[in-house]
Amino acid sequence: MSPDLAVDLGSATVRVAEPGGDVLVEEPSVAAVEVGEARMVAFGRKALGLAASGGPSGRIQLVRPVRHGQLVDVRLADEVLEHVVRSAGVARLAHPRVLACVHVEATHVQRDALERGLRRAGARQVRFVEQPIAAAMGAGLPVGEPEGMMAVEVGAGTTDVAVIALGGTVTSVSVPVGSADFDEALRTLLARRFGLVVDRSSAEEVRRRIGSVLPEPSSPHLEVRGRDVSTGAPARVVVSSEQLRPTLEELVAPIVSAAVDCVARTPPDLANDLLERGLSLSGGGSYLRGLEERLAAATGLAVHPAPSRERCAVLGAARCLGGDRLALLVSAARRR
Ligand SMILES: Nc1ncnc2c1ncn2[C@@H]1O[C@H](COP(=O)(O)OP(=O)(O)OP(=O)(O)O)[C@@H](O)[C@H]1O
Ligand SMILES: [Mg+2]
Repeated sequence: MSPDLAVDLGSATVRVAEPGGDVLVEEPSVAAVEVGEARMVAFGRKALGLAASGGPSGRIQLVRPVRHGQLVDVRLADEVLEHVVRSAGVARLAHPRVLACVHVEATHVQRDALERGLRRAGARQVRFVEQPIAAAMGAGLPVGEPEGMMAVEVGAGTTDVAVIALGGTVTSVSVPVGSADFDEALRTLLARRFGLVVDRSSAEEVRRRIGSVLPEPSSPHLEVRGRDVSTGAPARVVVSSEQLRPTLEELVAPIVSAAVDCVARTPPDLANDLLERGLSLSGGGSYLRGLEERLAAATGLAVHPAPSRERCAVLGAARCLGGDRLALLVSAARRR
C-alpha cells in the first residue's frame, strides 16, 4: 500500500483515504474516555458501543475531539490521530506523507496542533489542503485551471465556501455552522415548544426525515419519541416539517449569505465563469432538503450536488496526493 494518506478529521466523522481512492477509515469522531483517567479507551463506533453499555466500570464518558473545526483537546486529538493512522493500516515505522483537510479560516495554531498530532502518529511530512479545494477536486472540477469555480462544503460543524482558480482560493468564507447545529437547534425547539426531551441522534433522525428549508406542499409529519420535559416520563409528539422550518432557516441564512458574499467579491471575469459552471455542493450537512434551491435562488448560480457528498473532501485530498497537483495546491494553502 502507498504510504501516503489524506486525512479529514471532521467534527462528526474522521475519514482517511489513499491516493487510489479507497476510504480506509470512516468513523464517528468520538472518543470514549475513562472518567478521571483522561485517557482514550476506544474510538468511533466502538466508543459509542462502549458508552451505550456503560463500559466495564460504568465510568465511560464520550468526548468529541473536534468542534466547529477546532481541536478542543489537543492531548486527546494526538491519541485520536495515532489511533486513526494505525486503523488506516499504516505500520508505526511506515512514516506516511499526509495531506490533511483544514477549514479555510483554520489558524496556524490549529494547523500546528494537527501537524504535531500527525507527526507523533508517524507522519514524515504533513501538508494542508483547504476544504473547498479538496471538495472541488473530489467533485472532479479542474481546480488548477485559470477559470473560476465555486465550492460550498457544508459539514457538521463548519461550512466553507470558496471561489477557486489556479489551484487557490480567490475569495473564501468559513461559517461555524453545520448539520450538528441544525440538530442542536431542533433539540431546543422540541424541548421548548413541544415539551419533549430527545437525544442528539433522535434530533438527527428528525432532521434527516422531515427537516427542510423550503415549504413542502405535503408538510410531512413525524412521530418523535423522547421524555416529557417536566416529568421525565416517556412521551411522544407529532411534529411537522413546517413547524421545524423557521428554526432551520435561521441557521441556513448565514450559509447562504456566505455564498452570496463570496460571489459578490469575485472579480467580474471569474464571476462570469461561475455563471457558466455553477457551484459544487458537498459535505454531509448539504443533504438538508431545500438547501440546494435556497443557494441557487440567492446566488443566481446553478447548484450541482457532488457525487458522494460527505466523502468528497477526503477523496479530493487523496486525489491531490496522487498527482503533481500537490505542489500547486499546497502552495495555495499557505500558512496564515
Ligand atoms: N443522507 C443524509 N441525509 C442527511 N444528512 C446526512 C446524510 N448523510 C450524512 N448526513 C449528515 O452529515 C453530517 C456529517 O457530515 P460530514 O461528514 O461532512 O461532517 P464533518 O466533516 O465531520 O464535519 P465538519 O467538516 O464540519 O467538521 C451528519 O450530521 C449527518 O447527519
Ligand atoms: Mg468536513
